[in-house]
Amino acid sequence: KILVVDYGSQYTRLIARRLRELGVYSEVVHHSDDVETEDLMGVILSGGPRSVTSKGAPSLPTWLREVDVPILGICYGMQLLVKEFGGLVEKTETAEYGRTEVIVKKPASIFEGISERLNVWMSHGDSVVKVPEGFEVIAVTENDIPAALSSLDGMIWTLQFHPEVKHTEMGMEIINNFLFNICHADRNWTIEDFLERKVEEIREEVGDGKAILGLSGGVDSSVAAVLVHKAIGDRLINIFVDHGLLRLHEEKEVPMVFKDKLGLNLDVVRAKDRFLKRLQGVTDPEEKRKIIGEEFIRVFEEEAEKLGGRFLVQGTIYSDVIESAASGKETAKIKSHHNVGGLPERMNLKIIEPLRYLFKDEVRRLGELLGIPGEILYRHPFPGPGLGIRIIGEVTEDKLRILKEADAIFIELLKESGWYEKVWQAFAVLLDLKTVGVVGDERAYEYVIALRAVNSVEGMTADWSKLPYELLDEAARRICNRVKGAGRVVYDITSKPPATIEWE
Ligand code: XMP
Repeated sequence: KILVVDYGSQYTRLIARRLRELGVYSEVVHHSDDVETEDLMGVILSGGPRSVTSKGAPSLPTWLREVDVPILGICYGMQLLVKEFGGLVEKTETAEYGRTEVIVKKPASIFEGISERLNVWMSHGDSVVKVPEGFEVIAVTENDIPAALSSLDGMIWTLQFHPEVKHTEMGMEIINNFLFNICHADRNWTIEDFLERKVEEIREEVGDGKAILGLSGGVDSSVAAVLVHKAIGDRLINIFVDHGLLRLHEEKEVPMVFKDKLGLNLDVVRAKDRFLKRLQGVTDPEEKRKIIGEEFIRVFEEEAEKLGGRFLVQGTIYSDVIESAASGKETAKIKSHHNVGGLPERMNLKIIEPLRYLFKDEVRRLGELLGIPGEILYRHPFPGPGLGIRIIGEVTEDKLRILKEADAIFIELLKESGWYEKVWQAFAVLLDLKTVGVVGDERAYEYVIALRAVNSVEGMTADWSKLPYELLDEAARRICNRVKGAGRVVYDITSKPPATIEWE
């Protein structure tokens, strides 16, 4: 295995994912964790937002000194190694962010088959100003700053840029070279192995106990449900909470699919009044997320007590973890995804998150392996807090009705026109804003609906979809004509970053 040591970079899990793509098993550990070093073939130190020159900056793990395997330091990881071996890192005039050209200076096994000049993704304010003894510079940037070093014995390698991001040319080849030319890692990670390992792990953890799972009908919770069902059968009880924040008719359709088509053990809890009551008068997005997350857990706890469950299975996936900053103390918090950051402190159930470290497309591949029908797997993602975070401001019954109807019209139109499969996610948002219109000869004063459609791979970054004008035109027309209370339609043309996909 390869250990990826996390110093808080947004990209740490992307490193692990790249290793999986290359068929190599890895584990991500926090830099202060104690780890098991059996079968270790190599170590990768991630980037991180701190400066190695600042007080209290995280240092190398102590276990690292006792292992004799190749090490690759990326960005912060590079600077740590340089400092450790007696070199010097300083804040320099030239910070390098974004696309930067790198020139390979020496033939080195990590650069085998790589062109002499390549565009890479940089993100650093500090630079190496003195190379430690026993190391040589193997690549520099156009500003003549060391971009890559290697120790003369070929055991330590460092890169100032991020080979794991797509913007780095030949990044995968560089990682491939480190893994196979330098670490001689085994190619032994497959999604089939992952499935087998997870099933074993879950059986062991749950023993002869019972587990419950909050099934939303979305991709993640569905895959988690079928996976855990494979491990413990009907001792998994799926709970479908109808919290009133679901899309049009979902409260009827989801139970039907999961009971009848997939044969899962499903318990339906109607809790709409309870959620809406708690959301009354609440307008702050983070507060809404927290309330919905907490209420979910309370419903689960009550059900679990009735059913005698001790475990709670959640379909958390990695983009939820990273954006809620639950992956490490150093990562910046973007928003509290309800199934991670929004959990209450006090909780009587033990959490199992079998998909925690997978990205959306990997979850879908796992779902295919588990035989889940495409109509579920290739549905657009839907956030746990549901329409609660797509109604800007206070959530009311009337606003819910308007949003559900408008959203259903938009989605139906995308399906009719063949665009549903071409976009990664699409939905309507109800703004907390009324505008003036003219209907017949009368003045109207009604809500604004925003339509959003994005293209993405993992939901971490996204581009707004260039839907045809005719389609947008038809959507606006149908929504204004058919939805009482919707008076105007706008289309969101912001990418992520700087916006997020959802509006709250
Ligand atoms: P953002 O808005 O953070 O969304 O750009 C990224 C992806 O995550 C979904 N999302 C959530 N999923 N619980 C979830 O399970 C949540 O609280 C949550 N918030 C956002 C969002 O729909 C998009 O696909």
